[in-house]
Order: sequence, then structure tokens, then C-alpha cells
Amino acid sequence: MCGIFGYIGSKNSIKVTLQGLKRLEYRGYDSAGIAGIKNGKIVYRKEVGKVANLEEEVERSHLDLELAIAQTRWATHGKVTQVNAHPHLDTHQTLALVHNGIIENHDILKRQLQEKGVKFISDTDTEVIAQLIASLYQGDILQAVQQAIGLLKGSYAIALIHQDFPNQIIAVAHEAPLVIGIGNHEAFISSDPHAFAFHTRQVIYLMNAEIAVIKADQQEIYNADQDPIVKESQWLEKLSADQSKGEFEHYTLKEIFEQPQAIRSALLARFSLDQGTAVFDELNFSQLNLMAAERILILACGTSWHAGYLASYLLEDKARLPVQVEISSEFRYKNPVVSSGTLVIAISQSGETADTIAAVREVKSKGSQVLAICNVQGSTLVREADSSIFLRAGAEIGVCSTKAFTSQVTVLSLLTLLLARMRHMSKSEGQEFIHALLKLPDQVQWILDKAATIEALAKRYAHYEHFFYLGRHFMYPTSLEGALKLKEIAYVNANGYPAGEMKHGPIALIDKSCLTVALCANQLTFDKMVSNLMEIKARDGQILSIVEDNQTSLEKIVDDQILIPDTIDELAAILATIVTQLFAYYVAKERGAEIDQPRNLAKSVTVE
Ligand code: AGP
Repeated sequence: MCGIFGYIGSKNSIKVTLQGLKRLEYRGYDSAGIAGIKNGKIVYRKEVGKVANLEEEVERSHLDLELAIAQTRWATHGKVTQVNAHPHLDTHQTLALVHNGIIENHDILKRQLQEKGVKFISDTDTEVIAQLIASLYQGDILQAVQQAIGLLKGSYAIALIHQDFPNQIIAVAHEAPLVIGIGNHEAFISSDPHAFAFHTRQVIYLMNAEIAVIKADQQEIYNADQDPIVKESQWLEKLSADQSKGEFEHYTLKEIFEQPQAIRSALLARFSLDQGTAVFDELNFSQLNLMAAERILILACGTSWHAGYLASYLLEDKARLPVQVEISSEFRYKNPVVSSGTLVIAISQSGETADTIAAVREVKSKGSQVLAICNVQGSTLVREADSSIFLRAGAEIGVCSTKAFTSQVTVLSLLTLLLARMRHMSKSEGQEFIHALLKLPDQVQWILDKAATIEALAKRYAHYEHFFYLGRHFMYPTSLEGALKLKEIAYVNANGYPAGEMKHGPIALIDKSCLTVALCANQLTFDKMVSNLMEIKARDGQILSIVEDNQTSLEKIVDDQILIPDTIDELAAILATIVTQLFAYYVAKERGAEIDQPRNLAKSVTVE
């Protein structure tokens, strides 16, 4: 979702800022803008569409700025128009600001300002902040910002410049990420430190209600009580500056092909074959704590929720712990029952998903300990959780989550192993499970090597408008994930459904215009799945099955099949998912959809 970038220093502000903004494009957006100060005046440009449009306009108008703030906007309040794009200015154009998040009381603040004669030109909640600060300004901009944020309700990350203070950017964060990068006589502000990783890895994260006054050589930080505070900067070792697509046409395809390596990294040094168990050096919960867990609560959204749902089958089966899996946006308004023996696992690729963070705050306020499973070091979730396990998948740029999902399932499988070995699982069972895990990277590669076959089938079915993804047991959450991939990148209506549940209603939708992608790689339920497919066939439904390569009995029932290597039921979901990712990718490509940044979607969903 919206991305903020700002720069102050001796380099070319526009160049550095637009480069930073481009590195935030992955978050998903619909317009972009930049503002800065030149000769004591605020100057700005905004454009609908890609950062490239803004870049053209900046070049065309020979824009030159002494410092710059910029933003990619994902519309919440007000349509996608140039006027609604950020930055927003006050009426007299004395200040400009960019904002991520939502100001919940913008209506009432707007009315109060309008009563005082302030005229608004946009439909955004952000313009309210700009006008509010300007109305409170009496020569001390820091004080005006401090007073204004005392009146704001909601979530916000803000970067602001004022014409009377041409050597500083003011930044404020409240329930929205914002990080300062400290360079050599220069400073950066961004929603994501990867955006300035080329320049520096020395960072300071702004916490709730903190305000920073950022100058090239000095950063002053104030807490919610407006007192100056000293915050130590941190060095982000693993910040990746490389965000190229390499030989691939899209980030999504590159990330699908990175999965053998991502799974290897997720497994690296995290098991003991001798003991038949898993080892997480970074896990700072004691053995005692883990043994005391009586139930598990998993919180997540989207693909991460699918990984959690899949893990619930694993954890119940192997660790014999009852597991509750909750979609964060639902959970947070439930007044949930959280008992003392509950281990809470929050799963998020980005670590910035607003609903998951809110759900985590809710359980923490009830006294629970939270384990985060996350891909992004230093993210809000990681900073707020009691302990974290990292995916080590490398930056995932494609909005559609691919390698993060398989890494999440790999990490959750290891965590299951650890908890299971503390309870009922024998050493030899643990060792067998590790052996199966170790085979995964090569098995994934085996499927990737057959991408051309999957592409040909995707082309055959790309014109279909209705898809069902059916599975049973571990293949049910897998079907949800497969359908989500097709929906989000190919813009096709696809339903993930438990195969056994079709006859309770959805089978009414089956006819020859509907393709069923049948996830048949679960040995436990294979025969039941075959019966369900017979029911589909009897109603003229088309079937494409994903099946283990030792299984030949489906050939006569289905229209097409894609083979995957044999593995244990517990891990077949990873292999079947690789097929569904490639299938969705090639359908999307055939239909000409925008793959890396699908319409209406954002990578980090930082609003409710
Ligand atoms: C998946 O492809 C998504 N784009 C989306 O569902 C995503 O998984 C969800 O928004 C959660 O994000 P997170 O893992 O960063 O919390």
C-alpha cells in the first residue's frame, strides 16, 4: 500500500527520491507525487499512474529541489485523480506533506476547519492534516505538528516540509511504518528500508506517536509527551539492495523459480538429524514455555492465513495440540477468549499487515506471548512480537505471494516437528520427517523444470471464466491458495473448496464451462477425492488434476493432469502449490493481466 520516501542531503534530491519511490512500487499504488523546496518555496508535481509518469513530468518541467518528499498513493478516500494524489498542501502552499494510513476523524476536523473558512480542494483525509497543521502554525512547525497529531484519530505515517524550514523534514508515525536512514551527511525517510538500502543500512524506526526532525547531519526524535528522546540506530545487515528481475519477465516468475533456494534457506541449520527434531536459534521461548503450550492460536491474513490453516492440520496431527486459525481482521473485533496456555503464532510476509498487527496487540493486551513468523527484519510485527522466526526468503517484490508461502509452510513444518518431538513424536518419525523436508528443494526444481507443460495447459484453459480448486485434508488449504493466485493475478473468478462439500451446494455451478483444478496429492483422502471427481464429471465439468507421479488411476477420469513427485501427505501441499502458482502465472500472462502489481492490490496492506 502507499509508500513514502524522502531525502535530505547533498545528492540530487529528485533522482534519489524517485529511485526510492520506484523501489516502493511493489507495494501497489495508483498515483505518485513529489514535493520539495526551491528558493524558499514549496514546489510539487503529481501524476496518476506509474512513477514513470511522474518521472517524465519532472524531467519535462526541469524540476529542481533542495530536499524532497514523495509518495505512491493507494486510494482510500477519494478517487484516483491528480488532485487526490499526494503531496497535499495547505491553501497558502506553505507546507506539503505525504501520508500513509487513514485519519478516522477527518470528517469532523474538516468541518471545523471549513467553519473557520479553510477551503479544501481534494476528497482526501490527508489534506485535512495539511490544513490542520497550517492552521495551528505560529512560527514553530514542530509545535504545530505536535498539536495536530494530538487531534488525529487513526493510523498515520507522515513526512512533511515547510517553506520556513528549508533544511528539514518532519516525520511522524502512528500505527504505520516509517524508518529513517542515516547516511554520510544525508538522511532518508521511507516506509521500507529496502528503498534506501543502496545508500545506507543504518536505521531508526519511528514508534507510535514519535516525531522526528530530520536534517542531513542530525535527527532529533520526540516521544508522545513531546520530550526529546535518544534512540539508538541499528544496522540492518540483511537489507537487500538487489531488486532486479534478472533473466525473468516478471518478479512473480522470478520468485516462483527462487523457491528451491528459499526452502533450502528456511531449512538451513534448523534441524538436528541426530535428535530428529528442529532447532531455531532465534527462538527465545524456553523449552518450558513451549512444553507448557496447551493450544495454539494462529493469526494471519491472505496467503499467510492459508499457510497457517495448512499448519493447523499439521500441528493437530503431529503435535496433538488443538489449533485455532483466525483471519486477523475478524479476530480483532471478537473479544476473543485467550487462555494462559495459548501459544499465539502471527504469520506475515511483510510484518506490516495492519489487521494482523492489531490482532497481535489484542492478544498481547490479554497477556499472551506472540511468536511471529515473518520475512522482514525490523518490521512492526517483529518489533512487537515476543520472539520471531524469519523465513529467509529474500525480498518478495511481486504482490502475489509465492516464495513466502512455501517458506512459511517449511518453517511451520519445522516448528510442528519441534513441538511434536516435545510431545508424542518418536525420534525415528522425526528423522523421517526431516528426510522428507530435505528432498523438497529438488522436488520443487523437478516441477519448475516442467514449466513449459504447465504453460501449455494454462493456455488451453486461459479463456475459462469459472474455476473451482478442490482438495481434501492438507489439499483443502492448498486449494484456497491456488484459487487466490488465479483471482489476484489473472482476475478470474476461482473458488477454493473442500471437495467433499461440493455436493452441499456449489456443485450446482458445475457444467462444461467450469474448470475444476483437482488437488489429488493427498493419499489419505485419494479415494474420496476420486468419487468427488466422478460427481463433477457426471455433470460435464472439465477437470485438470494435480497428482503424484506414481498415481495412474485418474487418467481415465480427468481431462488433463500435471504430475508432481511423490512425498508424504504433509508436504505435498508445497509441491502442488508450485503447480498452481505457475498455472496462475501463465493464465494471467495469456490473458494479458498485469502480473507483478495486480490492479487494486497492495503488497503491504497497512490499512484496515
Ligand atoms: C497473497 O498473494 C497476497 N497478496 C495477500 O493475500 C497477502 O498474503 C496478505 O495481504 C497478507 O500479507 P502479509 O503476509 O504480508 O501479512
